[in-house]
Amino acid sequence: MALARQPDDRAILRDLEFTRMRRRHLRKVLAIEARVYPRPWSASLFLSELSQKATRSYVVAKHSGEVVGYIGMMYAADEAHVTNIAVDPNFHGYKIGTRMLHAAIIEALARGSRTLSLEVRVSNQVAQAMYDKFGFQIVGRRKGYYIETNEDAFVMMVHDALSTEYRLRLREIRKEIDEALYGG
Ligand SMILES: CC(C)(COP(=O)(O)OP(=O)(O)OC[C@H]1O[C@@H](n2cnc3c(N)ncnc32)[C@H](O)[C@@H]1OP(=O)(O)O)[C@@H](O)C(=O)NCCC(=O)NCCS
Repeated sequence: MALARQPDDRAILRDLEFTRMRRRHLRKVLAIEARVYPRPWSASLFLSELSQKATRSYVVAKHSGEVVGYIGMMYAADEAHVTNIAVDPNFHGYKIGTRMLHAAIIEALARGSRTLSLEVRVSNQVAQAMYDKFGFQIVGRRKGYYIETNEDAFVMMVHDALSTEYRLRLREIRKEIDEALYGG
């Protein structure tokens, strides 16, 4: 019988590498999609997203060479929209989501995005807590946005991501990540 995995948190945190999502990552990405969403994205949807290089940015997080999470961003004018973010359920709670979102927002700021936006299920309190930490605020509600479950989405936004105040918030989050990685 296989022994239950006893992960060392810091080992998992330290051995994490970010790289641009490629076609070869899709097998694992689709497996994670199937585990975390009732209506997972298809391979063709990911391929279509990956082909729109000027307006999309997809990154995977790898642990020991295995894809354990991914994030997608869409850019339009001065707005960056989080299209997708997911972490392999075996690796939830290791700050991988926080680190991917932090890295994606830093990239968005470098591209000059002033506004950050996303949709999230009204029932998804874990994701909302993470977005709240990043300063996203609920600005609207889309009725029945998730058709498979007829669930509403909250629209969440950061209005002035280029402000000094927001950069300080990101710096605090970076500190928190470093403390988790290397101890306080
Ligand atoms: C949302 C998701 C990406 C978070 O990834 P993760 O790596 O597990 O998250 P982190 O470890 O970075 O935790 C981020 C924050 O989420 C919240 N959180 C994480 N686990 C939680 C739990 N069990 N209960 C409540 N809040 C929790 C906390 O606010 C946490 O911040 P903290 O560590 O400062 O307290 C992950 O849960 C996931 O893949 N969910 C399924 C897909 C999904 O819902 N995507 C979002 C679609 S909008």
